[in-house]
Amino acid sequence: MAQPRGQFGSKVGFVLAAAGSAIGLGNIWKFPYLAGENGGAVFLILYLGFVFTIGLSVMLAELAIGRAGEKNPVGAFARLKGGPWTVVGYMGVFTGFIILSFYSVVGGWTLAYALQTATGLLALSDAEALGNAFGAFVADPIGPVGYHGLFMALTVIVVARGIDTGIERACRVLMPVLFVLLAVLCVRSLTLPGAGAGIAFFLEPDFSKVSAGTVTAALGQAFFSLSLGMGAMITYGSYISHRENLPKAALWVTSLDTLIAVMAGFLILPAVFAFGFDPAAGPGLTFITLPAVFSQIPLGAFFGTLFFVLLAVAALTSAMSLLEVVVAYLVDEKGVPRAKAAWGAGMVIFLLGIPSSLSLGVWSDFTVAGKGFFDIMDYLASNVLLPTGGILIALFVGWTVYPQVMDADNGGIGHEFRWAGVWRFVCRFVAPAAIAWILVNRL
Ligand code: PFF
Repeated sequence: MAQPRGQFGSKVGFVLAAAGSAIGLGNIWKFPYLAGENGGAVFLILYLGFVFTIGLSVMLAELAIGRAGEKNPVGAFARLKGGPWTVVGYMGVFTGFIILSFYSVVGGWTLAYALQTATGLLALSDAEALGNAFGAFVADPIGPVGYHGLFMALTVIVVARGIDTGIERACRVLMPVLFVLLAVLCVRSLTLPGAGAGIAFFLEPDFSKVSAGTVTAALGQAFFSLSLGMGAMITYGSYISHRENLPKAALWVTSLDTLIAVMAGFLILPAVFAFGFDPAAGPGLTFITLPAVFSQIPLGAFFGTLFFVLLAVAALTSAMSLLEVVVAYLVDEKGVPRAKAAWGAGMVIFLLGIPSSLSLGVWSDFTVAGKGFFDIMDYLASNVLLPTGGILIALFVGWTVYPQVMDADNGGIGHEFRWAGVWRFVCRFVAPAAIAWILVNRL
């Protein structure tokens, strides 16, 4: 059979690329600070619960839609069923714009921190000084916007080159290095004097801390971290070979992503307590805590730089998957040449990210319901758009295209999947009802 679409070269290649999408700033930047803001262990438990029920099911649903539909989200919905379902695909493309706009701002911070760590600017262990350094950096109207532009340009360059040349090769080498470095840093953080309080915070639940906000945050984070709800995994699924066992791939990606998030928790939270930072410090938490950890290891500037570079790469592989959703749509549906689509979309996203960056400094006075532009974009995407996309994707698979996504002859999962009945039940009832309940309660 002719295979006009690009494809991942191998099984490991696919799992690593999909894990490359899932593993990113969501794990290392967002997860620790959300856990810090939402009671630690309680957040962890809710998060794990969501990941391995709803998350895993929606992950498989997206991969299956992608492989059976062999297209970008808009094209896949149109091809498998069409009609109003296509709107879910458009919603995904829209969400891609929103997420990447603020994601790239944080991606820019990692580039800046790599540079500043290398030049010794952040060789401090004093909590207040590190907090001030971060605050001053993000509040500057020029620097962070420049780094955001640089990060976006790097993303565009890789995506413009196409799926198999850029994405897979980059992930294959760099993800394992990040993993090893993360493991080493965890050991350092866990053995700091005073780390015990952080470990207890992360592992000993206090259920009196659960609020509607905690539950929504954990659910939103499950979607964000696994790259679910907007079609990134549909797009990646469309590039996966028909020989691949999809349920296994879904389990691998979900598990690897969760492992990295939990490791990041064990890296950041013990250090937060050891150095006397505030666990509820918000989006700056990882950026103020890591330099303090590096100040406590031999060759800290070297390892610190390496870490921020690898974090930037992890962010880049996630950003690539966000942009790929938009680009695959423009290429497949609109016939736009790939490079033109990548640069054009990248430019719009760059502009959209500027107010996010400025909202942490000169535009901080502009707020809606106490949230600045950056927070609004994040909240809208993670806690509204992605879970809503998740409901629709689950319903689509559970009720509408189940026979098609199971049909092995046409790229479906295949009937030897033992948990198919459970999976379908979760897609039909459990996931949509649970997500809807959480969203409604929050509003
Ligand atoms: N999962 C990525 C992270 O955790 O950093 C972010 C992300 C990528 C979200 C792709 C959504 C997406 F479609």
